[in-house]
Amino acid sequence: MELASNYNYKVVKQFAIATVIWGIVGMLVGVIIAAQLAWPALNLDIPWLTYGRLRPLHTNAVIFAFGICGLFATSYYVVQRTCQVRLFSDKLAAFTFWGWQAVILLAVVTLPMGYTRGKEYAELEWPITILIALVWIAYAVVFFGTLITRKVKHIYVANWFFGAYILAVTILHVVQGASMPASLTKSYSAYTGVQDAMIQWWYGHNAVGFILTAGYLGMVYYFIPKQAERPVYSYRLSIVHFWALIFTYMWAGPHHLHYTALPDWTQSVGMVFSLVLLAPSWGGMINGMMTLSGAWHKLRTDPILKFMIVSLSFYGIATFEGPMMSIKTINALSHYTDWTVAHVHGGALGWVGFITMGSIYYLIPRLVGEQKMYSVKLIDLHFWVATIGVVLYIAAMWIAGVMQGLMWRAVNPDGTLTYTFVEGVKATYPYYAVRVLGGFMYFSGMCVMGYNTWMTLRRRATVIAPIPALAAAH
Ligand code: HEM
Ligand code: HEM
Repeated sequence: MELASNYNYKVVKQFAIATVIWGIVGMLVGVIIAAQLAWPALNLDIPWLTYGRLRPLHTNAVIFAFGICGLFATSYYVVQRTCQVRLFSDKLAAFTFWGWQAVILLAVVTLPMGYTRGKEYAELEWPITILIALVWIAYAVVFFGTLITRKVKHIYVANWFFGAYILAVTILHVVQGASMPASLTKSYSAYTGVQDAMIQWWYGHNAVGFILTAGYLGMVYYFIPKQAERPVYSYRLSIVHFWALIFTYMWAGPHHLHYTALPDWTQSVGMVFSLVLLAPSWGGMINGMMTLSGAWHKLRTDPILKFMIVSLSFYGIATFEGPMMSIKTINALSHYTDWTVAHVHGGALGWVGFITMGSIYYLIPRLVGEQKMYSVKLIDLHFWVATIGVVLYIAAMWIAGVMQGLMWRAVNPDGTLTYTFVEGVKATYPYYAVRVLGGFMYFSGMCVMGYNTWMTLRRRATVIAPIPALAAAH
């Protein structure tokens, strides 16, 4: 039942439920590809199930389906609450929901079929890329339209972050998407050679900076103060680190291309900006953490707050590790190894996943007019299973990554390599098995969230069901 409200909660609810569903799907595919790396026979000799096709399906499902549906839900909720006005256009908002689900379904069909632009995080072929652009323009109109028609003078800081993410993705998507179609299912990049690589990682890194960071900081600035019932620790710090963050991220992309044909000075610029990035990143983490001042005791009993605060810890870890990995000499060891994968999933599972889960747990009961989720104990269970899962995943990949880097560079006194590549692969297998276990735990936690969500929605349905029956009896 739609709540009687001046706000458009329908689209928020749709996106919130989609976040949970796509989270389960995307993480399941993650567990499958993790298992394929440990036991390659699991591709079952079926082309659609090969690692090369399922891997982009995983990244698209977790980032664009789970991640962005979560951002749609929270940004639509926050912009309405903080501007005290209904979404600018219900029709356009509905278009963003159905349009985005169409994009996801097209990805689910085309990626296993092997259609791809071959660009990481921008694999979808040109007709889908155009659909993404249309949905995104509608998103921008709804979001900024709502901001413009706001009833409060002030623009709350969470909206700054959501706004920056929406604007930046528009620019990134248009520049990265430029290509020449050869047929309905094949296109060629508008750029060549090293420029193509530079555009790719300018895009890739800013996808991290503006989707996987700025968007989720938007969640931090609304949901943590709400859940902790405390004001943001420092409003001034939030504005300073906002501008520093969005300015710095734009220049850090070349750290993905160390020791390549990219001019050396460009690589150094990327490295320096990455090191600078530590400061604004930690500004956000500290601001979020300190918002709990005087409310730390709530962590004992409130699993939603645990999700949120632990997410900030992982954000702090990933944004310390990232600048270190961008130092050329360290990157010489980490690049191509599973250390990068550990860094990615520290950020993805610990930061992006946890802050999304915390925020969606906050949202769902409110969207259906309930005080809290069906079971707080199950939220706690989810928290612990997921936390142990992340730790197993990233610890295994850290060890595997450093081991691989050291094995690859080990040389005998006569200058020959100490280990063949295959020996490195063999030594990695046990760690891949541990990752399957960690990933499976994280995925199980998501299933628990799915059950808890379902029961919360169902309870609401059963509570309101007798009313029409009563009416009929009279
Ligand atoms: C159950 C949870 C998950 C498991 C088991 C899992 C597993 C994997 C595996 C096996 C890979 C391929 C690594 C490789 O090529 O060596 C991968 C890549 C990736 N995953 Fe996940 N994943 C999970 C959840 C997530 C989530 C929630 C996100 C994002 C929000 C995410 C983002 C990524 C990204 C960005 C990559 C590409 C990394 C790179 O190119 O370095 N994953 N994942
Ligand atoms: C101060 C912030 C950060 C810096 C300076 C940074 C730096 C780096 C560096 C140096 C790499 C390895 C590049 C390579 O050797 O190929 C990397 C990879 C990556 N990072 Fe970060 N990182 C930061 C934060 C984050 C966060 C918060 C996330 C969130 C999930 C994240 C996601 C990724 C992904 C997905 C990749 C793998 C890209 C790929 O190869 O496919 N990073 N990052």
